[in-house]
Amino acid sequence: MLARIFSCAVIGLDGVIVDVEVDYAAGMGGVIIVGLPDAAVQESRERVQSAVKNAGLPFPRRRVIVNLAPAAVRKEGPYYDLPIALGVMVMTGLVPAHAMEKTLVLGELSLDGSVRHAKGVLPMAAAARQNGFKRIIVPQADAAEAALIPDLEVIPVTSLKALYLHLTEDTPIEPHTVTDAPITENDLFAPTDFSEIKGQEHVKRAVEVAAAGGHNVLMMGSPGSGKTLLARAMPGILPEMSIDEALDVTRIYSVADALPPGTPLIRHRPFRAPHHTISHAGLVGGGNWPHPGEISLAHRGVLFLDEFPEFGTRVLEVMRQPMEDKLVTISRAQGSLTFPANFQLVAAMNPCPCGYYGDLLKPCTCAHSTVTKYQKRISGPLLDRIDIHIEVPRVDYEKLSSDRVGETSASIRQRVQAARDIQTQRYSSIRNSNIDSLNIMCNADMRIAEIRRFCKLDEAGESLIKAAMSQLQLSARAYHRILKLARTIADLAGSEAIETGHLAEALQYRPKIMIG
Ligand SMILES: Nc1ncnc2c1ncn2[C@@H]1O[C@H](COP(=O)(O)OP(=O)(O)OP(=O)(O)O)[C@@H](O)[C@H]1O
Ligand SMILES: [Mg+2]
Repeated sequence: MLARIFSCAVIGLDGVIVDVEVDYAAGMGGVIIVGLPDAAVQESRERVQSAVKNAGLPFPRRRVIVNLAPAAVRKEGPYYDLPIALGVMVMTGLVPAHAMEKTLVLGELSLDGSVRHAKGVLPMAAAARQNGFKRIIVPQADAAEAALIPDLEVIPVTSLKALYLHLTEDTPIEPHTVTDAPITENDLFAPTDFSEIKGQEHVKRAVEVAAAGGHNVLMMGSPGSGKTLLARAMPGILPEMSIDEALDVTRIYSVADALPPGTPLIRHRPFRAPHHTISHAGLVGGGNWPHPGEISLAHRGVLFLDEFPEFGTRVLEVMRQPMEDKLVTISRAQGSLTFPANFQLVAAMNPCPCGYYGDLLKPCTCAHSTVTKYQKRISGPLLDRIDIHIEVPRVDYEKLSSDRVGETSASIRQRVQAARDIQTQRYSSIRNSNIDSLNIMCNADMRIAEIRRFCKLDEAGESLIKAAMSQLQLSARAYHRILKLARTIADLAGSEAIETGHLAEALQYRPKIMIG
């Protein structure tokens, strides 16, 4: 009897239903798998046979053929072990076919029949729900992740034998129910609290503005002035993620197999700090069978690039398109895949190779041309995409040694959160739930239409920005970015209108004349 089990493949971040058909073929012994399987899927043949036998169940002596359909979808990874084993068991009559109705199955088997963790369970569960499945059978380790999708019964399995006993109604397995763990302090962990950072009030303010509206920041200053310290303190002031944002982010981590153990849902904004030796594919995503890169893992959070000019020019330039589109498209011979990449860039750099160009105390030892060359490593178009340019001067001894305790991260975070709440409210009506990554969640996400609607200036503001446009030789992009930034500053002040003061602060964050 032909058996048919439903499983799933992941293309990019989306689950695609795969039919696993199992039948007898002519000849004796062994398993044949057809339907565009990759090497890991081919290896299922051996694992399934061992797992079934080691679970104490009979494996047919005749040859078994497995067809994975649709044939056009490339199947990768070891997800199909469990569906193939179940298909064989249905075919041989061990498991009744009706037990598998409206049920999606995925999981890797070990030789002893135990079921192992699988990646990408969240998008697969979402696909199950969308395609009208009632139930999903997943490895126990991934049950909490699958249970994030509502109205889907999640059966967690530890071994093939346990699943067999469940399906034959011998020892039923309890479906996994959601345990709604509250957000913990741990989720907001930042190695440094803002109160420990002395002086640098204007930098702290700039970082607060950036966090409130999701704006890009570049910090420039001499060595040891606290740039890395300030950036690393940022996770402590980032606003909460909405549940939609959290699901969006978790989906990426699920596919990249980067979910921390015991964390089915990522609730805090990601903070990614890749080293400057990172490859092009590591940053934007890639590989033979494309996987998300750091810019996608930083989706809805922060991508911190320390020692900014040390990243290869080519590596940095590939970020230009994703920074504008808030997604990245990777093309391969088999087709192209799109991953969301709506991140907030936080970059830090020294102004020159020796580090002291512009320092108030220590003279710079670099030749003028060296400084220019160093700064030129960051191209104009890339700089133009950075809303906040801020100089981080050295802290003087009085400030450093004073006992005055600065404002804590928790208290800054309250203001950031209040400003973000205003934004959430504002954009809730114009959200398009189909294309998640394009959803407007914060001021930095605004497109031209929204800027026109929400960033109206009064007469004084108009004339201020007009003067600035010609004096600072601003691009059209810079103009829009300044308006968005001014909107955030007004939101932080709880002001409905963008006042001249707000606009002036936004303008002050544009790059001062770089040398060269
Ligand atoms: N504003 C500050 N308040 C308190 N400590 C500071 C401050 N700035 C720097 N420090 C001290 O100096 C150390 C180095 O700071 P940090 O790594 O942030 O410097 P940096 O600006 O990133 O330097 P570099 O350009 O060399 O990377 C910190 O670990 C901290 O001990
Ligand atoms: Mg540093």
